[in-house]
Amino acid sequence: MNSAEIRQKFLDFFASKQHQIVPSAPIVVKDDPTLMFINSGMAPFKDYFLGNKPAPYKRIADTQKCLRVSGKHNDLEEVGYDTYHHTMFEMLGNWSFGDYFKKEALEWSWELLTEVYKLPKDRLYVSVFQGDASENLQMDQDAFNIWKSMIAEDRILMGSKKDNFWEMGDTGPCGPCSEIHVDLRTDEERAQVDGKSLVNNDHPQVVEIWNNVFMEFNRLADGSLVKLPAQHVDTGMGFERLCMAIQGKRSNYDTDVFQPLIQFVAKEAGLVYGEDEKTDIAIRVISDHIRAIAFTIADGQLPSNNKAGYVIRRILRRAVRYGFTFLDFKKPFLYKLAAVLADQMETVFPELKQQLSFVQRVIEEEENAFLRTLENGLKRLDALEAKFKENNNTIDGKTAFELYDTFGFPLDLTALIAREKGLTVDEAGFGVEMEQQKNRSRNASASEQSDWVIIQPDVITEFVGYDCNVSDSHIVRYRQVKTKNKSEYHIVLDKTPFYAESGGQVGDTGYLISDSEQIEVLDTKKENDLILHITAKLPQTIDAAFRSEIDFERRNYIRKNHSATHLLHAALRKVLGEHVQQKGSLVNEKVLRFDFSHFAKVEDAQIREIEHIVNERVRQSIPLEEQRNVPIAQAKEMGATALFGEKYGEYVRVIAFDREHSVELCGGTHVYNTGEIGYFKIVSESSVAAGVRRIEAVTAKIAEDFVHAQLDELHAVREVLNTQSNVSGAVQKLQDENKALQKQLEQFELKQLSGLKDTLAQKAQQLNGVSLVAEQIEVSNADHLKKLAFDMRQVVDNLILVLAAEIDGKPQIAVMLSDNLVAEKNLNASQMVRELAKEIKGGGGGQPFYATAGGKDTAGLQAVPGKAVELVKNLMNS
Ligand code: ALA
Repeated sequence: MNSAEIRQKFLDFFASKQHQIVPSAPIVVKDDPTLMFINSGMAPFKDYFLGNKPAPYKRIADTQKCLRVSGKHNDLEEVGYDTYHHTMFEMLGNWSFGDYFKKEALEWSWELLTEVYKLPKDRLYVSVFQGDASENLQMDQDAFNIWKSMIAEDRILMGSKKDNFWEMGDTGPCGPCSEIHVDLRTDEERAQVDGKSLVNNDHPQVVEIWNNVFMEFNRLADGSLVKLPAQHVDTGMGFERLCMAIQGKRSNYDTDVFQPLIQFVAKEAGLVYGEDEKTDIAIRVISDHIRAIAFTIADGQLPSNNKAGYVIRRILRRAVRYGFTFLDFKKPFLYKLAAVLADQMETVFPELKQQLSFVQRVIEEEENAFLRTLENGLKRLDALEAKFKENNNTIDGKTAFELYDTFGFPLDLTALIAREKGLTVDEAGFGVEMEQQKNRSRNASASEQSDWVIIQPDVITEFVGYDCNVSDSHIVRYRQVKTKNKSEYHIVLDKTPFYAESGGQVGDTGYLISDSEQIEVLDTKKENDLILHITAKLPQTIDAAFRSEIDFERRNYIRKNHSATHLLHAALRKVLGEHVQQKGSLVNEKVLRFDFSHFAKVEDAQIREIEHIVNERVRQSIPLEEQRNVPIAQAKEMGATALFGEKYGEYVRVIAFDREHSVELCGGTHVYNTGEIGYFKIVSESSVAAGVRRIEAVTAKIAEDFVHAQLDELHAVREVLNTQSNVSGAVQKLQDENKALQKQLEQFELKQLSGLKDTLAQKAQQLNGVSLVAEQIEVSNADHLKKLAFDMRQVVDNLILVLAAEIDGKPQIAVMLSDNLVAEKNLNASQMVRELAKEIKGGGGGQPFYATAGGKDTAGLQAVPGKAVELVKNLMNS
């Protein structure tokens, strides 16, 4: 059975058990500060478990793109070294939201594995939670009894809290779980060692394939467990491991999920996979990491220097480093692999193929940049080699850390290079530096979040902000969040007009007003489906009736900018082409910023055309067509393009301004008529990353102010030039004149310089067989000083020349010697200039025959000639 069939059979099986099959959510999490990436199939459904939002279906199944590279679930360091951990993997899952429970879940998992996939029963083991006295948790007798009715008792193992109590993160839904493990060893191996003893023991052929979690609890921030309002089932089966088991392979990498990638990398490297463990590891690392890299970029996360973007950058660099070090890949290679992956995944995750050239461009640019960094790091290591040799042949911890921090060299790479050079690395010292940095960032970002104080349970917030600016509200829950510098409150209301930051649009500000007080709302944010009103204070009477009121004037500007963003998006696609995809946006009360995929600078004429199209739409006063709760398929039929990386429900909101022109899926707030935008003006166009351009624009009064400021500037220039027409011609004329004058001045100065040379030559004093000229002079720039010194050398033999001058307000000294004095008298201009520079409180250097110095004390210049005479006398006498 190939992997596509295996996946489909899973989905068909659960569809036949009345599960709704849903698409995978994007891998990058946008509205949950506790999670960067989806780390398990249940993460997109967190709110259903917690009761923050009703589940649209009681039963759901899917295959979900997951990434386990940060936070509680982090497998990164294992990847490549073993054969069954991955950064990005697919988790097949089925869920019950307050519907069926343990019996159905366990029976169906057994049925699917043994009857549909036909895995031999005698190769399967199951585990059950043994209980935990410290948390007052009982053994899961129900799960045990259910298994006992299906399989022999000696195949049921008891598991500790570590293995059999599953938690999503430090806080959040959790519960006891029951795992299914498969023993894939040969019959001979199995005869020698009982499979049971290898379960949960990191054996590559005895692995967990399916986890059935019985979600009953919520772990609070204070560490305690509270019962959830209902009992749920959350299951997860590692797709790649399942393929290994069904296809009878000994490694996930031997299945058809990975083989196309593995073979491509091996071919590029001119190697055969399976012949040398060292290069095999590198091939596995790369074949694994490309999946994480390509899918996160396709889901809208660009590599960057912070948060999720930094995680991706690190994974990409890890892949490049393995290629560079073990496979001799000195040029970008990962981007080529993205094409293999896109073909392979086209039917299940088409988003990669649809954006392939963009994703490839981003990857290639990142690779190039990191390869340059690697080279620079290697150069730095070479430059310091002598120092390391003196230091007991050791690379000290500080340097190893600098290489890690600045050049992206992990310790193992530094150690590898060190070995080649006969050096070792002070790993303990590196560890100390690393710990210090971690402490620094921990202290900077440490925040303490209290658990929710629930005032009214089970209330789902009603958002009325599309229709009203004011509403009656009651507080349903709140919590306090403390960071190093501030303390704030998150308040959730039963009804609110406040728009929570999302889809690029900033959150509303405003007030919560009761009879006795007024609390300022500083911002509004989303956490999954909760709308958090951020305040600095908590109302004194929590259960008061509030009037919640947004800052309407601010919202009004935001609405204009948001609608203008839609018009801009449509105009960009019209002028630049259909390849333009939104890659990010920011809409606030001042400006709109729109990032989009496009491979070249947008030319001035195109900018003009785009502005014109948008302003035409503004002038046409097109009414807003807003439709809520449109089935997603119908919205797409209307021509609305879904954004990659955006999580859409089955019902969406559609915003159109003339269906022929702009139709978008959008949750933001908009003008009722494009005429409200008033005027649209692009203020900048720039590059943000490889293949991503950014346009910033303003609307309405701010656009008007912008244009006025430009015109004011122009008026001012006209006044200065005293011309009313052809300003650029007048400026050009001025520039030409300026150039001509400069030329004249230069010629004049050179003539003067030549005169000065003659005067100085005449002033030469004979001193012990040398001709000394030491003078303070006037020259206009350093080049002239140098020219004068070199010209003097041509006309005076046995010359010691010391010139002191003020140039651009700063003191400078030049010393020039005839070659014979350097060779025969052992004189050195560098040494002399350093000595003389003391007079001007400065320093300098150069070559033995010519050296210069700069300083801070211009008043000291006049003493230089006298000091030079003294110095020369001393030198000639010694
Ligand atoms: N959420 C469970 C897991 O990830 C199924 O293992």
